[in-house]
Amino acid sequence: MRIPLEQAGELLIAGKVVAVPTETVYGLAASIVHPAAVESIYSIKGRPSSNPLIIHVSSLDQIIPYATEIPPFFYELASAFWPGPLTIVLPINTDLVPDKIRAGQPTAAFRIPNHPLVRELIALTGPLVMPSANISGRPSATSPSHVEHDFGADFPVLDGGSSIKGVESTIVIYLSDRWEVIRLGSIPAEEFEPVLGYVPEFKISLDGEKVLCPGQLFRHYAPHSRLLLVTDFPEDLQGTIIGYSDRSYPKGCDVRVLGSLSTPEVCAERLYHVLRQLDEDNVPSVYVDMAIPTTGLWATLRERLNKAAG
Ligand code: TXA
Ligand code: MG
Repeated sequence: MRIPLEQAGELLIAGKVVAVPTETVYGLAASIVHPAAVESIYSIKGRPSSNPLIIHVSSLDQIIPYATEIPPFFYELASAFWPGPLTIVLPINTDLVPDKIRAGQPTAAFRIPNHPLVRELIALTGPLVMPSANISGRPSATSPSHVEHDFGADFPVLDGGSSIKGVESTIVIYLSDRWEVIRLGSIPAEEFEPVLGYVPEFKISLDGEKVLCPGQLFRHYAPHSRLLLVTDFPEDLQGTIIGYSDRSYPKGCDVRVLGSLSTPEVCAERLYHVLRQLDEDNVPSVYVDMAIPTTGLWATLRERLNKAAG
């Protein structure tokens, strides 16, 4: 059910959960001051309670009071990428952030999103916690109809159109003396170099110890359709293919085009639309063209497709 901004604000202030647009993907929002609403996010999504939530704010001064330490280059990152698809994990005063939100971690993840509606909304409600607005494990929602598909036609959604980035924020953390990327996302790691002087590495864990981003432990982004990752296509192949407009595929195949190999941003924007459409069309399995670059936004697309394939 599409609702106007004022109503979304009222519902959130009253302790309800509302789906809201961001430039990356839709979020399932609850006010940080309503523990019962935060808890219901986990049950609505079927999300493991060990997977913490990102706190979304509208300005830097809403973050600073939580932090027990401001790492070097934090302000430089904030001014280069916020508002936008960057999430920064900081050590925090755990008395100020309920355990549920941070899933027991001594840190919390923060983001200042860049969609005009969510910014206006946070100005009304204060900080909102929100995971992606999808059933846990499924492709994220990048339009109101995706949210309604997962949570029902009556679920309240603030309609902000299709998400323009189409994949989630990039998550970074400062550890000992470097920033590390702990979830690939819509900002390619290379884009941090002008700010940091180096390209942060994508790290799942430090020395094989505990994972840095708990979400990495779980199945993600997966349609019911089975994804078969391939790098070449025999001439006699038949079936459905996720591919690129500048490639040719065997005759007679049903090709679902992500975009051109020269426009990874378009491919990212379309990714979850294409994955979700497979289920709409009851496609049991699909070949995915993985002969794609390994750098820039392609690294993120690769990771999403790998995860979606399980
Ligand atoms: O673009 C996005 O980030 C979207 C929009 C709605 O803002 N949100 C999103 O939330 O992708 P979610 O819940 O689907 O993914 C959040 C990720 C999870 O993998 C979680 O483990 C990680 O952030 N995370 C949250 N708090 C963390 C923390 N304190 N330390 C490490 N990772 C954390
Ligand atoms: Mg998610």
